[in-house]
Amino acid sequence: MFHQSTVTPLSRRTFIKAAAASALPAWFIESLPARAEERTDSPNERPKVALIGCGGMGTFDAKLAQKFGDVIAVCDVDKDRLEKATQHFKGAKPFSDFREVCDLPELDIVINGTPDHWHTLVNLRAVKSGKDVYSEKPLTLTIDEGKRLVEAVKSSGRILQTGSQQRSDKTFRLACELVRNGRLGKVERVRTWLPTGLHEGPFKTAPVPKELNWDMWQGQTQTTDYVPERCHRTFRYWWDYSGGTMTDWGAHHNDIALWGLGKDRSGPVSIEGEIVVQPIPGGYTAASQYRVKYVYDDGVEHFCHNTTANGWAGGVTGKPGPGEKYHGIQFEGPKGWIYVSRGDKLEASDSSLLETPLPSDAIKLYASDNHMANFFESVKSRKPPICDVEIGHRSASLCHLGVLSLRLGRKLTWDPGMETFPGDAEAAGMLSREMRKPYSYESL
Ligand SMILES: NC(=O)c1ccc[n+]([C@@H]2O[C@H](COP(=O)([O-])OP(=O)(O)OC[C@H]3O[C@@H](n4cnc5c(N)ncnc54)[C@H](O)[C@@H]3O)[C@@H](O)[C@H]2O)c1
Repeated sequence: MFHQSTVTPLSRRTFIKAAAASALPAWFIESLPARAEERTDSPNERPKVALIGCGGMGTFDAKLAQKFGDVIAVCDVDKDRLEKATQHFKGAKPFSDFREVCDLPELDIVINGTPDHWHTLVNLRAVKSGKDVYSEKPLTLTIDEGKRLVEAVKSSGRILQTGSQQRSDKTFRLACELVRNGRLGKVERVRTWLPTGLHEGPFKTAPVPKELNWDMWQGQTQTTDYVPERCHRTFRYWWDYSGGTMTDWGAHHNDIALWGLGKDRSGPVSIEGEIVVQPIPGGYTAASQYRVKYVYDDGVEHFCHNTTANGWAGGVTGKPGPGEKYHGIQFEGPKGWIYVSRGDKLEASDSSLLETPLPSDAIKLYASDNHMANFFESVKSRKPPICDVEIGHRSASLCHLGVLSLRLGRKLTWDPGMETFPGDAEAAGMLSREMRKPYSYESL
């Protein structure tokens, strides 16, 4: 479809040359402010926190939050996980219905570590109850959910931090600042490499574990027999509950792509996706390997694909071969490329692109070096956090648009201002999903 245009002479040359600088440049390290002293608020100044969704990530987030606040309540629809959470967070009161948690008058903050299909309903209820929210990414299940959530957070004056924590990593910030200050010239292209998803199945149904409220776990989604692989952790590989690695990892790397392009309150104007490996019947439904081409209104192209060198050169195995890149983001322009990923991976086609300091009047991006600390600072100051609700919504939307194009198997035209598909009723019908009764916005 659009393979040829992605393998540019520039990227071939740079792979051969391997002129990469992997450490952060000295001028940037020197420019960082000294670390602020850790806050030592007196106990009655520490916000009261509840964890809703006590899986791996929610528990991790709540442990980070304990530095700044006290976890007074935990909530899960799986009694085993709830029991474990009460051991992690001594003295926290257990709940199985998030609405009761949100209603606690003494509560200040909700940490939302539920699966993606529950994020918005929990977030809306928390905001409605006057709580601030740290919500895991991808912020939403549908674009319509995001529009509703942005409106609810803005009109209520609550703080919402999206858990796309790469925003609070100085290496990603540096890459985006360099790009935003024209280090590559006018950006022509961005590539995001996302990990390949699971390609497994068919799966067998099983009796619902006695500790699990399977009906409530499924929430707004259409009910099915219990299949263990649909539930904890691997829910992200089913369209019903998530969008595969497109949304799971896209909420990180596509988020950084938008930040570097300065389009994190906007979106693309066209989306063309292709499933590379079809799911196994009766197995995970989200595409494990795919490619999506986005185009923005200024002509910038964004290629989002799985982890092999230059996208689809040399086959897609999910494991990077020699000289290939792992997951991450690469910005490209007439002056070269800059690649950034986790673990302080920062590389460029020419080391001078990184080593030349930015001038004192350069554009500075919102700086945060600790995502959870930034959230608690916002709760106190009432100023927006680094990954506010609109940014979380727009980053999730970019991923959802990719998923919709994959699912429809065709090109889509998007109006990022109106957040509509002009003249495309079929795609417009997929901006939201039918909710299974009694789960609804009205039930909150
Ligand atoms: N920021 C990151 O780097 C990062 C990393 C991993 C996961 N995540 C995100 O965190 C979220 C959770 O992922 P996980 O791997 O911890 O999943 P998980 O399946 O291990 O945990 C989710 C928990 O939520 C519970 N739950 C489901 N519905 C609920 C409801 N209505 N009320 C209360 N609890 C409910 C489940 O029983 C489960 O215990 C996902 O959205 C995922 O994308 C983010």
